[in-house]
Amino acid sequence: MTDVTRTIKSVKSKNTVKIKAPIVEALEKAYENPTYQFHIPGHTKGNGTLPDFRKLIGKKALMVDTTDEFDGLGTLHPATGPIKEAQELAAKAFGAKKTFFLLNGSTAGNLAIAMGLTKKGQRILTNRNCHRSVLTGMIISGAEPLWLIPERFEDWGIWGNVSPESVEEQLKAHDDIAMVWITNPTYEGVVSDIKSISTICKRYNVPLIVDEAHACLWNFNKHLPTPALQLGADAVVHSLHKTGGSMSQSSMLHVAENSILDVDAIEKALKLLHTTSPSLMLLASLDAARANLESQRGKNQLARAVENAKYLRREIDTMEHIHHLKPDFGYKTDITKVFIKADGLSGKRLESILEIDFNIEVESASDAGLLILSNIGNSRNDIKYLAECLHKIDKTNYSDICYLENKKHMPMLTPIIKMNLRDSFYAEKETIPKSQAIGRIAAEVIAECPPGIAILLPGELITEAHLPYLQDYEFIEVIK
Ligand SMILES: Cc1ncc(COP(=O)(O)O)c(C=O)c1O
Repeated sequence: MTDVTRTIKSVKSKNTVKIKAPIVEALEKAYENPTYQFHIPGHTKGNGTLPDFRKLIGKKALMVDTTDEFDGLGTLHPATGPIKEAQELAAKAFGAKKTFFLLNGSTAGNLAIAMGLTKKGQRILTNRNCHRSVLTGMIISGAEPLWLIPERFEDWGIWGNVSPESVEEQLKAHDDIAMVWITNPTYEGVVSDIKSISTICKRYNVPLIVDEAHACLWNFNKHLPTPALQLGADAVVHSLHKTGGSMSQSSMLHVAENSILDVDAIEKALKLLHTTSPSLMLLASLDAARANLESQRGKNQLARAVENAKYLRREIDTMEHIHHLKPDFGYKTDITKVFIKADGLSGKRLESILEIDFNIEVESASDAGLLILSNIGNSRNDIKYLAECLHKIDKTNYSDICYLENKKHMPMLTPIIKMNLRDSFYAEKETIPKSQAIGRIAAEVIAECPPGIAILLPGELITEAHLPYLQDYEFIEVIK
């Protein structure tokens, strides 16, 4: 039995109903019936590459590295064959009218939404802590962000939720808002009241997009928050590669059943944005991730991830100097995203202790704390080891190596807007030393990843308050 067959068999649920994975199955067929290949990709099943690389990733990975149109695999644009079928299965699994598979991550989905659905001069109501891809999309289309400034939790150095009241206030004050675009949850898992926000949007007849990049698991476990497609959003993006089990870069864009959006316009924008040589491996990994999440095996893995997160949180509750952002700290959160901080240590310092002393890598760290993801691929032993190491850190005095963190990581500033976003991006610019930049107008997007939240955007005034976030920058692009 080949590995691919095993994968397909293993996604049968307990009562042996086979979960279909059409792209995976088509790729397997192509693998088992190799042809004489005179087409792209030129490495020709791995023969034309560096042997060390082939050894590293395995010949089989290279043998299934192909693009659409060949070997009966269908095409991505327009979706045909197994790719079309896989997108339809994904739509069903996530409760959407239409699902698009995305290469180049949810970034591609956000760009397509902005490019396909917004126009020059339109106002888009969005939260300041949105991902930079939302803004890149607006630079392309010429739409202008109208900022919602969510609550800030200064103690934890993170953004909070977007309040429905703030959405309604803006919709009342501006009758030219073409779209409401909310990030939910935040990178650290803070959840907004999407139900109320969608009710308000419907009242004002404005579509609601939810950037759910970090929440593709919510549809598959009742202990996780309710997905936006069930709460009235018109469209969402999901980075399946972040937490859903697909390969890096692969994501999905879902359009809701009763959406008022122009699906055709999204598809046309995606066609322009996507590569013309989509990786079948990435597309198959999306198909496989969806099939796995739908299977009993995937459901068990997700239930374990939730239980692991609860276990870790209970352990942290017994520690003296390490704290976690509790899942019920006054706002709803996604329990699998565990944000912690330690007394006397910056998040960055804690991250390096975990890495150097214990060989543990976490999702991200900031000046305040760090983010641990309890993933579907983590075992209980993984999480026990992490808890043990945190106990050791909790009992150790690190004051001798503690240093002051003078770089800030999570941009939480209220922007001072001087010029329009797109015009500033395309304006005449000059590059000047950071020390001379205060009082000038930024001409570039500065948004470090993670979390990809804007420190400065084209058209914004540069002030002293930006400096702690710009430690790694010697020069800045400003309007001439
Ligand atoms: C909220 C949010 N939206 C979109 C993206 C872009 O996702 P991707 O990396 O899949 O392109 C990210 C990435 O971190 C994100 O945090």
